[in-house]
Amino acid sequence: MTDGFQLRYDGPIATLAIDNGPVNTVDPDLIENLIKTLPSLTEDPAVRCIVVRGKGKVFVGGADITVMRRLEPATYRAMRRWVEVERALELAPKPVVAALNGHALGGGAELALACDLRILHARATFGFPETGLGIFPGAGGSQRLPRLVGPHRAKRLIMDGTRLTAEQALDAGLVDLVASDNFDEVVAREAARLAALPTATVGLVKQVIDRGWGLPIDEAMAVEEEFVLRNLQLEDAAEGLQAFLDKRPPSFTGR
Ligand code: CAA
Repeated sequence: MTDGFQLRYDGPIATLAIDNGPVNTVDPDLIENLIKTLPSLTEDPAVRCIVVRGKGKVFVGGADITVMRRLEPATYRAMRRWVEVERALELAPKPVVAALNGHALGGGAELALACDLRILHARATFGFPETGLGIFPGAGGSQRLPRLVGPHRAKRLIMDGTRLTAEQALDAGLVDLVASDNFDEVVAREAARLAALPTATVGLVKQVIDRGWGLPIDEAMAVEEEFVLRNLQLEDAAEGLQAFLDKRPPSFTGR
């Protein structure tokens, strides 16, 4: 029995490769194993960038439809914990890259929406085909998609269940980069770039936007002030500001 994923470390970059059946489907065992493992990545200061990808030719083909077919509340609740996996990555105090090496559909696309940078393989599709199954993207997709592309476009994409080509996904702002034969190279380059950032500051950026988004502006300003003060206590703030004054490139440690 496997955990449904593999972990690899390259210096400050941790790569989590989903490896669960022919198309990397999501099932309760995978979800529980990820929930147990993710803190070792999100809380380890030595890990300064997390890359999530799929093993083989698909990123994640969505929820395991044989499990979903049971239509029982207990099964739904077990599957629902996929949103906890997404949330752990969304709030991880470090950059998270979704390396979409192949099709990212349903729960796979929903996971990607919780990541900070999405790189899609040129041959892959991205989308929410759930309405074709008589259901809708209920693992974060119905809420994160409208935040990303606006409610009108989100309704259209979800209603139609469109599987977007990589080019269409890029045009729609659903992914940040498209790469083909050089996919692994682009992922490695972007992960290295993100891992060299002042990691703790990146973590604060993720949280200040998450906390402030949608609040009345005065409340949002109070949240911002709290986070600015926290940022100023970081070693990398001292380093970045001093490096400018010394006319040298900063050397961030992530603290
Ligand atoms: N659940 C269970 N089994 C699945 C599956 C899924 N989501 N997706 C594929 N499979 C199975 C196929 O039935 C097939 O099984 P057999 O070999 O026994 O026939 C096997 O995996 C391989 O699939 P394909 O032959 O279709 O592989 P492919 O490489 O040609 O295509 C794919 C890959 C594009 C991912 C395609 O399989 C596909 O479109 N799958 C369905 C995608 C989907 O609808 N996802 C949404 C699921 S619902 C959801 O995610 C809800 C949510 O909000 C969390």
